[in-house]
Amino acid sequence: MDLPENISSSDNDMNNNFQHRRPTKTRFEYEDDDQDETIEETATESSNLEDDAMCEPDESMGGDRTSADYYFDSYSHFGIHEEMLKDAVRTKTYQNVIYKNSFLFKDKIVLDVGAGTGILSLFCAKAGAKHVYAVECSHMADMAQEIVKVNGFSNVITVLKGKVEEIELPVAQVDIIISEWMGYFLLFENMLNTVLYARDKWLVNNGVVLPDKASLYLTAIEDAEYKEDKIEFWNNVYGFDMSCIKKQSMMEPLVDTVDQNQIVTNCQLLKTMNISKMAPGDASFMAPFKLVAERDDYIHALVAYFDVSFTKCHKLTGFSTGPRSRATHWKQTVLYLEDVLTICQGEAIVGSMSVAQNKKNPRDVDIMLKYSLNGRRCVLSRTQYYRMR
Ligand SMILES: C[S@@+](CC[C@H](N)C(=O)[O-])C[C@H]1O[C@@H](n2cnc3c(N)ncnc32)[C@H](O)[C@@H]1O
Repeated sequence: MDLPENISSSDNDMNNNFQHRRPTKTRFEYEDDDQDETIEETATESSNLEDDAMCEPDESMGGDRTSADYYFDSYSHFGIHEEMLKDAVRTKTYQNVIYKNSFLFKDKIVLDVGAGTGILSLFCAKAGAKHVYAVECSHMADMAQEIVKVNGFSNVITVLKGKVEEIELPVAQVDIIISEWMGYFLLFENMLNTVLYARDKWLVNNGVVLPDKASLYLTAIEDAEYKEDKIEFWNNVYGFDMSCIKKQSMMEPLVDTVDQNQIVTNCQLLKTMNISKMAPGDASFMAPFKLVAERDDYIHALVAYFDVSFTKCHKLTGFSTGPRSRATHWKQTVLYLEDVLTICQGEAIVGSMSVAQNKKNPRDVDIMLKYSLNGRRCVLSRTQYYRMR
């Protein structure tokens, strides 16, 4: 089920200009004319590398650090939390779920997995939870501690600084686990495993996990202009052939906003995860798809997006990150195709998508896309590999 529209509304448009949870690709204008004439100008005017020290490795960055260290470090900075909090679709949905369903929280013990600033813990405390354990491994835990104190919830919320997988919880069981664990393409960052770990260790029988359902979808888009700008760009960069980078750029899914008018086919449900019941291994899967063209057009990319729902509420509540819904900071995930497919209305791209945690770097996601089109104007069959990193 694709939720038709995001349930939360906010009076301002602050969430329409999201940055990313991590540095990623941004649309810039690239002008490739007059290159030769501007050589001198670019050498003098564009240089911002006056300080050579900028290029030297910083000792404090530590050569031994793993990608996990960098991941947790990024959550120590307030900027990433500001972006998430300002995503009103996201944060207001959680707020509505908690405030409008206080029957779920009244006198209950809650575990907030990855509490960040402590916002979800504060919502739960306000909704009448007996006690909330807010677990956060980044340095933002210190801020959460202060925020809890300043807002007068120190007797209800206990902030625990550390990894969920390593901390000791002062209680044997909790009634509710709440978490905002979703990454780009739903599974990037792999925080879902942390939620499942907490569920299996501490959740009481018949306890509630919020959200408890997440679904991944796929559709196909026309995207000539942007594919040209992102992929073909490497063919001629200030007059130089850098096409060897093209292969890499094809392999990295692009996190960006897709206009709904670009959608050419139906949207296909790939996978629904029941967070209350699933096994950790279920986050790796292979799903077949059939994308039927709703008009004659070209296809340049497949686009993935997700929705989440909270089915234990009075009213089914959730939000979608799809191109037809209000924008969120997750945007959509664009997977460019090697070839441009010419498709006629009613014809179908059929195939399968396999998704798995990267073995070396479990926060990365490996994607294998197999697809074929047997149409009047285009017949082809291909396998492509991508990595979210
Ligand atoms: C997407 S943010 C959500 C923050 C907050 N709950 C909110 O809704 O604004 C996820 C948070 O979980 C933390 N986190 C991720 N993995 C964790 C783990 N294994 N143990 C503890 N915290 C973790 C991150 O540092 C980050 O602050």
